[in-house]
Amino acid sequence: MGRASLLRLAAAMVLTGLVSPQVAVAARATPPLPVLPIPTAAQLAWQRREVIMFFHFGMNTFTNSELGTGAEDPALFAPAALNASQWMDAAAAAGASLAILVAKHHDGFCLWPSAYTAHSVRASPWHGGAGDVVREFAAAAHARGVDAGLYLSPWDLHDQEYGREVAYNEYYLAQLHELLTGYGSLSEIWFDGHKDKNATNMTYHFQEWFQTVRQLQSSSIIFSDAGPDVRWVGNEDGFVGTTCWSTVNRSMITIGATGIENYLNNGDPWGTDWVPPECDVTIRPGWFWHENETAKTLSQLLDIYYTSVGRNCVLLLNAPPNTTGLVEDADIARLREFRAAITRIFGTDLADGSTARASSERGGDFAAGNVLDGRDDTYWAPMAEDGRRDGYWVELRRPARARARPFNVVRIQEHVALGQRVERHEVYVDGVAVASGTTVGHKRLHRLAGPVVGRTVKIWFAARRGPPVVSAVGLHLDPHEINRPSQ
Ligand SMILES: *[C@@H]1O[C@H](CO)[C@@H](O)[C@H](O)[C@H]1NC(C)=O
Ligand SMILES: *[C@@H]1O[C@H](CO)[C@@H](O)[C@H](O)[C@H]1NC(C)=O
Ligand SMILES: *[C@@H]1O[C@H](CO)[C@@H](O)[C@H](O)[C@H]1NC(C)=O
Ligand SMILES: *[C@@H]1O[C@H](CO)[C@@H](O)[C@H](O)[C@H]1NC(C)=O
Ligand SMILES: *[C@@H]1O[C@H](CO)[C@@H](O)[C@H](O)[C@H]1NC(C)=O
Ligand SMILES: *[C@@H]1O[C@H](CO)[C@@H](O)[C@H](O)[C@H]1NC(C)=O
Repeated sequence: MGRASLLRLAAAMVLTGLVSPQVAVAARATPPLPVLPIPTAAQLAWQRREVIMFFHFGMNTFTNSELGTGAEDPALFAPAALNASQWMDAAAAAGASLAILVAKHHDGFCLWPSAYTAHSVRASPWHGGAGDVVREFAAAAHARGVDAGLYLSPWDLHDQEYGREVAYNEYYLAQLHELLTGYGSLSEIWFDGHKDKNATNMTYHFQEWFQTVRQLQSSSIIFSDAGPDVRWVGNEDGFVGTTCWSTVNRSMITIGATGIENYLNNGDPWGTDWVPPECDVTIRPGWFWHENETAKTLSQLLDIYYTSVGRNCVLLLNAPPNTTGLVEDADIARLREFRAAITRIFGTDLADGSTARASSERGGDFAAGNVLDGRDDTYWAPMAEDGRRDGYWVELRRPARARARPFNVVRIQEHVALGQRVERHEVYVDGVAVASGTTVGHKRLHRLAGPVVGRTVKIWFAARRGPPVVSAVGLHLDPHEINRPSQ
């Protein structure tokens, strides 16, 4: 007899007075088996950050460029009033719990006084050559309760050894070692696969670099096209396609190779490795500050949020400090508006007061009602039924006052700690289909064609490899979406 049948028998025995309830609670419903691959604790924590910050600042800021040559004079690096604490105002305004600094971009100029090159802040007039932007950045972040991360460009247009395999890999690793050991705890290391097609050929020893991160900052997330922890999404526009699996086969991805964008964007439903995508995008047209540019509108940023965070990604948003060494007040104000809008939309759940039922429930700890409790660590799990792939559903029954509470956004979240499973889903309000899609993952947001009212909201699922485990269903009203075309 299966555990589920035992549970039903126990319940029946309690009802018929054959045994005392104490005996019945002993036969507790088990959680479902995970579906491999599953995220590590660090990957889960990273996913739940949802929005993180990027700061591109360096030689390009002072040459008004996006890509330097490597021949820039360090004397050009002269921020008049650099204040990394002010950068954290930007991170805090965006509600970001992690900020990543570009410590060295492709031009090779180092924002810290590396012992392995003369091409760094040490040769600049800033603080008479005694400054260290990485130190100020890490200290400001940690003082503000923001985790710090660093980007160190593999492609280096300055270093003379670039192109000599062993010599340059040693140089890169020596610098990585400085960053990993000199600035306290680091939560993400960013390995950019980009370089020009006509750039000098160079074989990077990514595995040696990654293992060094593991050794020196064991809980840090490692980003590259191929992970190992999080992957590039295949574009720099702040969106992922409507199908987004956190899983890929790492062995199919060559870092920096062209033609892998589509695979990175979709992921692989049968992927053997958990490597979720991160959407990097900049708040302005450029990654570096240019006087002639301004921040994206609130509406553009919200679109980006829906098509990144709302499709199972983490959004990595860049805000470039200017030549003074400060993030523009206007950019910080835009970030604050962005966060305020997210709080306004998602701070109120119009599913409040609803009850939930489902196609099946496996018992107390895994009841359908868990999708309404606002917690990531509780979830609805149906009974295990071998071989079944679709026809799972959860239904919210809203209270009578729901008639006065229209919504135009539906939020669905899988409990991805147990793996990503949903391959198709449909949303019905009082029996009328209002949205549908493929994957869900950590978070899936649907913007509806317009505000709807209704007493019942039913979500139907088809799931791979195992039944769906759903941690949340939420209903929200986005005032910015009213009167906008649907998507
Ligand atoms: C640096 O920025 C922080 C945060 O905005 C601010 O409190 C501090 O006064 C600034 N420091 C200077 C020297 O302006
Ligand atoms: C790099 O190597 C490839 C193949 O080995 C070759 O086709 C290409 O021309 C080289 N590029 C440069 C810039 O030397
Ligand atoms: C590579 O090509 C780009 C144009 O595609 C050019 O601007 C750049 O100077 C070239 N770089 C090198 C190192 O030849
Ligand atoms: C990834 O690996 C799985 C398991 O070996 C396999 O089923 C799947 O086809 C692979 N994906 C691709 C795109 O080859
Ligand atoms: C702003 O100026 C930079 C540097 O001259 C240029 O590359 C960029 O295209 C300009 N941006 C816009 C939006 O015109
Ligand atoms: C940089 O931004 C700060 C904050 O908005 C501003 O005070 C300063 O004038 C800006 N610098 C330049 C060169 O625009």
